[in-house]
Amino acid sequence: MQVIQGIKELEGFRSSFGKHEQLGLVPTMGALHAGHLSLLENAHRNTDHTMVSIFVNPLQFNDSKDFDKYPKQIEKDLELLKKGGCDIVFLPDTKELYSEKPILSFQFGYLEQIMEGYHRPGHFNGVAIVVSKLLNITRPHKAFFGEKDLQQLRVIQYLVKDLSMPVEIVPCATLREPDGLAMSSRNMRLNAAQRQRALLINQSLRKAKDLLGKLPHQEIEQLIEKDFSAEKLEYFSIVEKDSLKKCTDPFQNKEVALCIAAFIDEIRLIDNIIVSS
Ligand code: PAF
Repeated sequence: MQVIQGIKELEGFRSSFGKHEQLGLVPTMGALHAGHLSLLENAHRNTDHTMVSIFVNPLQFNDSKDFDKYPKQIEKDLELLKKGGCDIVFLPDTKELYSEKPILSFQFGYLEQIMEGYHRPGHFNGVAIVVSKLLNITRPHKAFFGEKDLQQLRVIQYLVKDLSMPVEIVPCATLREPDGLAMSSRNMRLNAAQRQRALLINQSLRKAKDLLGKLPHQEIEQLIEKDFSAEKLEYFSIVEKDSLKKCTDPFQNKEVALCIAAFIDEIRLIDNIIVSS
């Protein structure tokens, strides 16, 4: 496994690939878990060379405390990637990616006004800038993103489509712990009691899924809000799976996504499930 820190070095390495060899990129912020490794496996199945980038992108954190507390475990990450058969790790530092703060900024229309976009102002701009940089530097044929960050996935799909970027975005299913908790680097910050409380997030999604088609969406949303009376629910929304626009008609023959964000003390977790009718 090759670990590369500099853009110049990476470009040299990248040019050594044969014309017909496909590169698969898995962008990450490190603190890797089985969910990331499943993205890597997907990249292995679909491309000839696999690259994982690790960079905790300061530009996408709207809360500086969240950035400071973001888990970091680079030695362990490299060990996991080696075991997972990763070919190349791109490990730039902040100066390498941001020699200066970008003056460019992205706007994603209505996606900025709902759910993550509404509650984390500037977040998707930061994501779009770093993902654009990573795609331009590494020039992958395919890039792999988890469906756990469903709204981020949609933002990246629009980014690539609107700018005609020559890369295929491959969505990958969310991996869960046996008790239903969605895998996330932020889970590392939960103590045993908080982890137990965090189960409410997935339990409420499953409850809402069972109620779909039986109750109006507004009533389902109110029931879920009630279940969170002892926790801080940021949002629970029933949205159309592709557009992520609010879905109000419970009997519409559409695929919906149930999306949630909640705090377990100061740790913010998100999850979603996609329901086909
Ligand atoms: O999902 C993440 O880990 C990050 O948002 C990403 C896509 C690597 C950009 O920093």
